[in-house]
Amino acid sequence: MWRCGGCQGGRPPVASTAGTAGLNLSAMATDFTEETAADAVVDSFAKTPDPRLRELLSSLVRHLHAFVRETEPTIAEWERAIDFLTVTGHKCDDERQEFILLSDVLGISMLVETINNRVTGQGGLGGGSPQKKTATESTVLGPFHMIESPRRELGESIDFVGTGMPCVVRGRVLSADGTPLPGAELDVWQANDQGFYDVQQPGVQPRANGRGLFTADADGAFWFRTIVPSHYPIPTDGPVGQLLLATERHPYRPAHIHFIVTAPGHRALTTHIFVAGSPYIESDAVFAVKKSLVKEFTQVDDPEQAARYGLDGPFCLANFDIILLPAPG
Ligand SMILES: [Fe+2]
Repeated sequence: MWRCGGCQGGRPPVASTAGTAGLNLSAMATDFTEETAADAVVDSFAKTPDPRLRELLSSLVRHLHAFVRETEPTIAEWERAIDFLTVTGHKCDDERQEFILLSDVLGISMLVETINNRVTGQGGLGGGSPQKKTATESTVLGPFHMIESPRRELGESIDFVGTGMPCVVRGRVLSADGTPLPGAELDVWQANDQGFYDVQQPGVQPRANGRGLFTADADGAFWFRTIVPSHYPIPTDGPVGQLLLATERHPYRPAHIHFIVTAPGHRALTTHIFVAGSPYIESDAVFAVKKSLVKEFTQVDDPEQAARYGLDGPFCLANFDIILLPAPG
């Protein structure tokens, strides 16, 4: 652990005037104080050629310094924070993203997603006055979009296990003015009826179970078969789980199906539909629920309707029309 050799017992000794005579040292760079610290570090980025990078780093430094000045962490607490981030990094691999989990449980993922998908008159970030909310709302990507979804035909099932309540999800993809978007692509993925994604249960679920890439038809319509997903806990066997435990927060997410929807000339949409009535719908561990995304999964007992979807018993039917905003510019 690095320690400033002169830091014991308060402020470091100030160099004597005699020792610096003639060196023309700037006060900010050589007399680090609680008051000048943030300015000194921000100044060090002054020549950053990329203005956005300079803005981000300067703001990051100012906010981090303000946090430290406000909370005055002990050295032990600061070391604990470094350890936490180190373990978070070590927990990541090709199929586990602990930093996304951390961002999720801190509400940062939802904040970034929401800022980047404001419905404005400009169709983009900032500027313009909010218009009526015609576009489908976005929500977090989450940590389980880890493998490519296999391309499937409309009406195919994405469930290859066969347990759980059969379900049909259908709808249309439309532009904000109501024009259908034929050829829109829908990437969908979900947990099974036990609350696990395929990547969490290798050897139990077939690879790509619960995943599919569909293309909307000439009317912008889509439909696919699946099973009603379960609510589930986010992974708790890492540092983010320890954080939730230490703060007496539960790790559960309400039942949902993920979507990424794209169409030429339109902004891509990352969202979910949530199963109305699911446990935890009002206390999602990652703050991702928006009222407009909660959908009824209505049970249908009519054999004729079941046969129409290639099913032979009761099933749940969920309708989800998706409205995309035109791409800016
Ligand atoms: Fe999920």
